[in-house]
Amino acid sequence: MRDTLGREITYLRISLTDRCNLRCVYCMPPEGVNKREHREILSLEEMEEIAREAAALGVRKIRLTGGEPLVRRGMLSLCRRLRDIPQLEELTLTTNGVLLPGMAAALKAAGVDRVNISLDTLDPEKYRCVTRTGTLEDTLAGIWAAGEAGLTPLKLNCVLIGGFNDDEIPALAALTAREPLEVRFIELMPIGGAAPFGPEAYLPCEAVLERLPELEPLGETGGVAERFRLPGAVGTVGLIRPLSGCFCGRCDRIRLTADGCLKPCLHSREEIPIRGLHGADLRRALGRAILHKPERHGELSAQVRSEAARDMNQIGG
Ligand code: 5AD
Ligand code: SF4
Repeated sequence: MRDTLGREITYLRISLTDRCNLRCVYCMPPEGVNKREHREILSLEEMEEIAREAAALGVRKIRLTGGEPLVRRGMLSLCRRLRDIPQLEELTLTTNGVLLPGMAAALKAAGVDRVNISLDTLDPEKYRCVTRTGTLEDTLAGIWAAGEAGLTPLKLNCVLIGGFNDDEIPALAALTAREPLEVRFIELMPIGGAAPFGPEAYLPCEAVLERLPELEPLGETGGVAERFRLPGAVGTVGLIRPLSGCFCGRCDRIRLTADGCLKPCLHSREEIPIRGLHGADLRRALGRAILHKPERHGELSAQVRSEAARDMNQIGG
């Protein structure tokens, strides 16, 4: 289904939970999130029902996010049920990778096609610092397990933070030299835990091109990323520029929060509660949300924070 601006909406991101087993500084408060009552969160059956109606309206790709989607109990059975939706072409998830060593094979068997894994640094101390509680080795083991299980092509998400990981741009990009994966540098967004960061933290993706002038543009986009390749590399480097570039014109997605609200735009205040709607009512609400998707988000910068009324762990990126 197309919105009023002609954009075809084919991609639904579902946040399974706002909980996470890490506490990344740009995403979560240090104390974690208020534990919500179980009944405040959509059941897996409700999520499946919404996904089925969205597929009937033209959604072909679903990504499960969080918080951390792998901490939601029963998520494997949800994956299997989503995979049964006839129109669905792709089922993916975004994870911090910590639980992948024990789950990668089961995820593949449940019908997950591939995963994106967050990796902001290759330095164990810096990894602990950015995730507050995480261990680099766990995530590296998760990346390896995902590759072994065939959850590929892998994408590694690296949020650029000026003064923190800009010195690692060449090392992170070099991961693509011999492996068929994509390292994606993402501009830090002024939302969630990142909102109070100083201006020096907001590094434009241009910094990647300055550090690596040898990057060859491939002239193609992978979703919201612009693709490049290091000379002779097997994998690719993606740049995602929510601040310095605006990809709203080619946005093809809507989001569902764990408590049952549709978000037609990540950075807009607008939310449409759809919990409790079924059948034709549910489909109508979904159709209206798609049709009236905002044209673009407001300005985002080190000074101007996102208008979203929630933190990142409640939306899922
Ligand atoms: N800016 C940019 N990316 C963010 N993520 C979480 N918070 C932010 C932010 N403020 C990313 C995570 C993960 C994905 C789900 O969203 O690093 O890769
Ligand atoms: Fe968890 Fe991802 Fe947020 Fe980090 S960025 S705290 S891994 S949800």
